[in-house]
Amino acid sequence: MTKVCIFGLGYIGLPTAAMFAANGVEVIGIDINDKIIHTLINGGIHIQEYGLAAIVKQSIESGFLKPTFEPEPADAFIIAVPTPFYEDKRADMRAVAAAAEAIVPHLRKGNLVILESTSPPLTTINLLKPILEKSGLTAGKDFHLAYSPERVLPGQILKELVNNARVIGGIDIASAKAGQNLYATFVKGDIVLTDATTAEMVKLMENTYRDINIAVANEFSRLAERFGIDVWEAIRIANLHPRVKILNPGPGVGGHCISVDPWFLVEAAPDLTSLIHSARQVNDSQPAYVVRLVLKALGESLSNKKIAALGLTYKQDVDDLRESPAVETARLLAKHGVRVVAFEPYRPDAQFEGFETSGSLEGALVDADLILILVGHKQFQELTPDYVKQISHARMIVDSVNIFPISIWQSAGFRLIRLGVGKS
Ligand SMILES: NC(=O)c1ccc[n+]([C@@H]2O[C@H](COP(=O)([O-])OP(=O)(O)OC[C@H]3O[C@@H](n4cnc5c(N)ncnc54)[C@H](O)[C@@H]3O)[C@@H](O)[C@H]2O)c1
Repeated sequence: MTKVCIFGLGYIGLPTAAMFAANGVEVIGIDINDKIIHTLINGGIHIQEYGLAAIVKQSIESGFLKPTFEPEPADAFIIAVPTPFYEDKRADMRAVAAAAEAIVPHLRKGNLVILESTSPPLTTINLLKPILEKSGLTAGKDFHLAYSPERVLPGQILKELVNNARVIGGIDIASAKAGQNLYATFVKGDIVLTDATTAEMVKLMENTYRDINIAVANEFSRLAERFGIDVWEAIRIANLHPRVKILNPGPGVGGHCISVDPWFLVEAAPDLTSLIHSARQVNDSQPAYVVRLVLKALGESLSNKKIAALGLTYKQDVDDLRESPAVETARLLAKHGVRVVAFEPYRPDAQFEGFETSGSLEGALVDADLILILVGHKQFQELTPDYVKQISHARMIVDSVNIFPISIWQSAGFRLIRLGVGKS
């Protein structure tokens, strides 16, 4: 295959486009966002991802990657557009449907269409196939159709695109094999072939498994506080068991994947997903749980109090703010009448409704009464009591991610309250 159209130049589509382009495939990169296309054409990128800027720039300069708004006839079409949910948690598949509609006029016999967006079970067969067949061509007979989930870790996307095992689920064996042929261009990990619905379920099961395991860790943190123990110590000891691997509690679960995908299963089969549904509710209520810790620490009078909230992304050392529980925690806190000034080193200019942000760490810390750690960014792990004392009079810290060593901060005169710790 020598020419590929990729729909959606975001965290998934752009690195994928660059990898194909860097390996000699002509890539038409399509996005509906003006700013993204113009940024790319002008040699920049709109997301932070290790190593991405250089490979994108090189691909555009070499002419192998062409960012544009309009698709063209190609050998293969890859859809990597967002699949968020509506307010009531139903999957919003409008972008996938729109991308499929845009492929229809360009679809030719022998083409391959691959859906990469995380999608509810049966999307490839029940949503994508009928739209593509409006072309007059039949999936499986005239063109290949497959689902291939993305499983990369933000921050390591380029490395993982190449080295991770890739699943390709075809609507038939020939479609899966055509997908294998395409991704073999740059994938060095195993390429596992299966059917489309199994591949859809694999992705949803992976993220749901993580969500449930984080939910149980969050419940353990609540139980630890009730029973007067330190959950971090308990988890460390429990994990010495050779068959136990408890994850870390925290302010909740965010991002475009783990906090969203389990809802696709709940929507698709509400009668079979009570555990999955409960885990979602536990994780979604964790910001309120952290807020309760902060309010307890602040005591009665909340007005005139300033909280420095450190970190807003959905996890450490990434710039992604989507569905972030840290943002939700800051917002909920501000609703209680305290002044919240947040600092996010990876997005210093980002603005939010409901609370203030500062473009610098110092701006958040100065005059703060309490420091709330919401994300374990490396920059925050490296903070020292001496540095904080120079900037701020705050001597109270709520650490929701357990990055501050208690002995160091307490002996420096700070009161350190950690999520999941019920003893002093
Ligand atoms: N980000 C991750 O780490 C990750 C990991 C695994 C799977 N996924 C899945 O991959 C899919 C894409 O996620 P993402 O993080 O890259 O999203 P993103 O929001 O970063 O990028 C999607 C891009 O698609 C564009 N777009 C929207 N509608 C379009 C259309 N009709 N035609 C062309 N472009 C369109 C948007 O403007 C945006 O730039 C989602 O289903 C997501 O769940 C993401």
